[in-house]
Amino acid sequence: MPSLPSAGAVILVLKIAVVAVTFLLTASLIALWRGHYRLHGRINIVFFVLTLAALLGLEIVARVLQPQLFDEHFQRHGAKTALAVHLAFSMPAALVLLAMLPTGLRRYRRLHVGLGVVFLVLWSGTFVTGLFFLPHASAPP
Ligand code: HEM
Repeated sequence: MPSLPSAGAVILVLKIAVVAVTFLLTASLIALWRGHYRLHGRINIVFFVLTLAALLGLEIVARVLQPQLFDEHFQRHGAKTALAVHLAFSMPAALVLLAMLPTGLRRYRRLHVGLGVVFLVLWSGTFVTGLFFLPHASAPP
């Protein structure tokens, strides 16, 4: 059976993915600010697909392939609280993201912009807690 990646490696890949999609989100907001609404929408369709694909990928690795992998990793690093804080931002961010695409495509402007502000706060929390609080080094012995 091929060896599976360590929890630290999966977390590192996710951190890189979060930085990459945040560049896309920033580009989409710059497009919005300049009045290029269509470009904003196009970039965010890519942002939406990549972000949800990363989330689904993580869920498959963490809960189906190696259910105890992350538990052990965070336990050994004493980072269970850090994970809880991160999830408190990232779970609602994922839920709000689901509503961002249909409200944007249907031009429900007030709802879309209102949810967008909430999403930006949750995404900032996801970014900071994910990048700086979660340990990606191999666990100490
Ligand atoms: C985060 C803050 C965001 C703000 C403030 C924002 C704001 C806006 C505004 C003002 C429009 C134009 C609506 C209109 O034409 O009446 C728009 C369009 C759109 N937005 Fe957003 N948005 C945000 C994030 C997102 C995200 C995360 C997604 C997708 C996941 C998204 C997808 C779209 C789409 C698909 C459109 C339609 C573009 C088109 O006209 O072809 N937006 N957004």
